[in-house]
Amino acid sequence: MKNIAVIGSGTMGNGIAHTFAQFGYQVSLIDVSDNALSKALATISKNLDRQVTKGTLSESEKETTLANITIFTDLQTGVAGAELIVEAASENLELKLKIFKDLDHFAGPGAILASNTSSISITRIASVTSRGDKVIGMHFMNPVPVMKLVEVIRGYATSDETTAMVMDLSLKLDKTPVEVNDYPGFVANRILMPMINEAIYSLYEGVAGVEEIDTVMKLGMAHPMGPLQLADFIGLDVCLAILRVLQEGFGNPKYAPCPLLVNMVAAGKRGVKSGEGFYNYAKGVKEAVVAAKFATN
Ligand code: CAA
Repeated sequence: MKNIAVIGSGTMGNGIAHTFAQFGYQVSLIDVSDNALSKALATISKNLDRQVTKGTLSESEKETTLANITIFTDLQTGVAGAELIVEAASENLELKLKIFKDLDHFAGPGAILASNTSSISITRIASVTSRGDKVIGMHFMNPVPVMKLVEVIRGYATSDETTAMVMDLSLKLDKTPVEVNDYPGFVANRILMPMINEAIYSLYEGVAGVEEIDTVMKLGMAHPMGPLQLADFIGLDVCLAILRVLQEGFGNPKYAPCPLLVNMVAAGKRGVKSGEGFYNYAKGVKEAVVAAKFATN
């Protein structure tokens, strides 16, 4: 495999494009607007600079990586010739179904169609295509160039051959792939999101403040980020969407999102990307905000 297309140039999409390009793949990065694509290229360049500064990448490797990425606003043109297409659009079922329907028409007959979805059913996504055996989940973690895991999700119809190809490809990106089955939240978010939700409940019920909760989990459990900071980093809207998938998928009230999370998303507090969540990022450094003003206590 040499030619990869990535759909969506947001946080995950640009990280995925960056990683494939760094490992020598020709990447077509596709989004709906030139503006989004220019922003993505600037982000990739900035993240490559971190690697150059650390001495893990040379200046010429940075230039080669950038040269391996071509941008497109037209889906049909962008996916032409791609052997693997990784969809990293927003976490919205209808949008993903539309993209996969289109991909089934536009992509070459042998192309593998992967989704970076964090929780939407791969089997459901595959059902709108005529190639269920070639549809698979390839769930990268943020920040993609740094995090070692790829959660590889087998839909009901995904073939052994497709799974083996994606596992092998992940190894070539210096990642550790883990194969899991297609049930709500897969493994990563089935375990992560209840923890984040419980941290929000602890805040909501006044058990402790934002920094206290995060410090307990950082220092007590050796997590690199506390759960509230991590929720801001992932995006509170994304956390809410994943909890809804778990709640609906299992029909179990234990996954019901904390009302504080629901309120914060409704108030436009989506975390780092909106400038504020459990912390405020306006000054370029994170400051805990009194999210308790939205809480019951
Ligand atoms: N691109 C390239 N390199 C990057 C980067 C990026 N986007 N972001 C950070 N880095 C590099 C830095 O250059 C640095 O490199 P060295 O180790 O060589 O020094 C390293 O990563 C650590 O970065 P920093 O020193 O700036 O900051 P840090 O030590 O606080 O680490 C972090 C940052 C890696 C993000 C760390 O805080 C962490 O691991 N956080 C938890 C991340 C996590 O849990 N991600 C999963 C989220 S869940 C998800 O993604 C899936 C989902 O479905 C919701």
